[in-house]
Amino acid sequence: MSAIVDQPAANCLVGTAPPSPAGPTDAEELQRLPRPPVVPLPRTAQMLRFNQRQIEFVFKARRKLGEVFAIRGTQPGAIVMTSHPDHVRSLFTARPEQAPSLTGESPLRPVVGPSSVLTAVGERHMRQRKLLLPAFHGEAIAQYAQMIADAVERAIDRWPVGRPIALAPRMQAITLDVIMGGIFGIDGRPALGSPEFALRRATRSLLYASTLPLAQVAELMNVGRDEPVGLQRAGLGLLDRPTYAVIRARREAADTEERRDILSLLIRARTEEGEALTDRELRDELLTLVLAGHETTANQLAWTWERLVRTPAAHERLLEAVRGDDDAAEVVEATIQEAMRSRPVIPVIGRRVTVPWRLGAYAVPAGTAVTMSILLLHHRDDLYPDPFAFRPERWAGRKPGTYEWIPFGGGIRRCLGAALAMAEQRVVLSEMARRLDLAAAEPEPEHAKHRNVTMIPARGARVVIRARRP
Ligand code: HEM
Repeated sequence: MSAIVDQPAANCLVGTAPPSPAGPTDAEELQRLPRPPVVPLPRTAQMLRFNQRQIEFVFKARRKLGEVFAIRGTQPGAIVMTSHPDHVRSLFTARPEQAPSLTGESPLRPVVGPSSVLTAVGERHMRQRKLLLPAFHGEAIAQYAQMIADAVERAIDRWPVGRPIALAPRMQAITLDVIMGGIFGIDGRPALGSPEFALRRATRSLLYASTLPLAQVAELMNVGRDEPVGLQRAGLGLLDRPTYAVIRARREAADTEERRDILSLLIRARTEEGEALTDRELRDELLTLVLAGHETTANQLAWTWERLVRTPAAHERLLEAVRGDDDAAEVVEATIQEAMRSRPVIPVIGRRVTVPWRLGAYAVPAGTAVTMSILLLHHRDDLYPDPFAFRPERWAGRKPGTYEWIPFGGGIRRCLGAALAMAEQRVVLSEMARRLDLAAAEPEPEHAKHRNVTMIPARGARVVIRARRP
């Protein structure tokens, strides 16, 4: 008897996960099903390990306890973590009131206020999101490609050849230029003494200060507050003055109606009831965009290079494509998708379920914080065979699955800046590949370090520029 077996293609590098029931459930099922197993370590040890060695911690927990487990953090009760695409789907497609985002409880709350698109939940969140969305549509973003290319060109020409450099801070300088251009409409170098000049300088200083250990202390003092106190309040004051000055100047400018930058679009935006954003709302949203869009995009690019300079096949394929081939766009896209799969700069996101929730073989009560480990999901070997290998070719001819590739989150909280972040990554990656011959400064892969909610390369993605092409 000859059996025709439905064999997966030998080179199939993207697969599927077995189904796992998930979603809102009732008291009876909550009674019947067990709670997820808890990581067997004291609370403080768990917090320390999660904050300092999240990668080892979550991979070990999954190995020992399975794809749903609970950890103990700063708050009473356990935080549940899952990495199954069906569980992710249940949370991304949930009714907003049944699974509000944990970003409402984030340390950014006192910084950007409780009502910005990132920190608001429920109706207020939808109102802000609708106001902001048009500014981030693909067509709105397409106009930024040249501005991004100019920012990369300017930067590349200044980087030294032949000695080790960290790419992360250099990527941050580029993403800051893009934010100043795209969000505030400040191109190149603003005139000395102008509000734009002061804003650019204050933003740069504050973003730098936010990486210092003192900033973490200031952050702890502000946990759970709606308005900042102490050092954080003083620091933000320095940024607020020029921000409000730029907002005032733009409201009064003769060309605000024609301008295409995000600030001008937001000044013109109206809710369905015809309401405009107040100065305070504009300030909160602008700061949200700067904070959400700057480090994330920069470090994602840094990770891409950290991987590329250690994966010769993928590196060579990219260089060949951008320096000649006509399928360059496809190779660039696949490289970005693979980098965002293997090193998602935001490794975990979460929702607080307000009704009992089923997660496969387990159920959790209302009020539980349920997090989705993007990192673990992206390293499932049923979804991504050979998950630890960096293989852009796994994306050839495939679109990433909505609940299987989630570096930008999903559902009604999906990253608003995803189109801008993708445009930036395409342009920066292509320009750098076209112009630079890069090599790893050290052969060992870089560990991940955690800063606020991001996972970044510990040494800043150190490379050596072997040659710079004209
Ligand atoms: C590679 C770069 C980026 C990555 C990986 C990223 C990732 C994410 C993720 C995972 C979320 C969802 C958070 C959650 O569900 O809890 C998010 C939300 C958000 N992102 Fe991004 N982001 C990036 C760049 C940007 C940029 C460039 C901007 C804007 C300039 C931006 C603005 C936002 C905003 C406003 C939200 C909140 C959306 C909402 O809650 O409705 N992001 N981002």
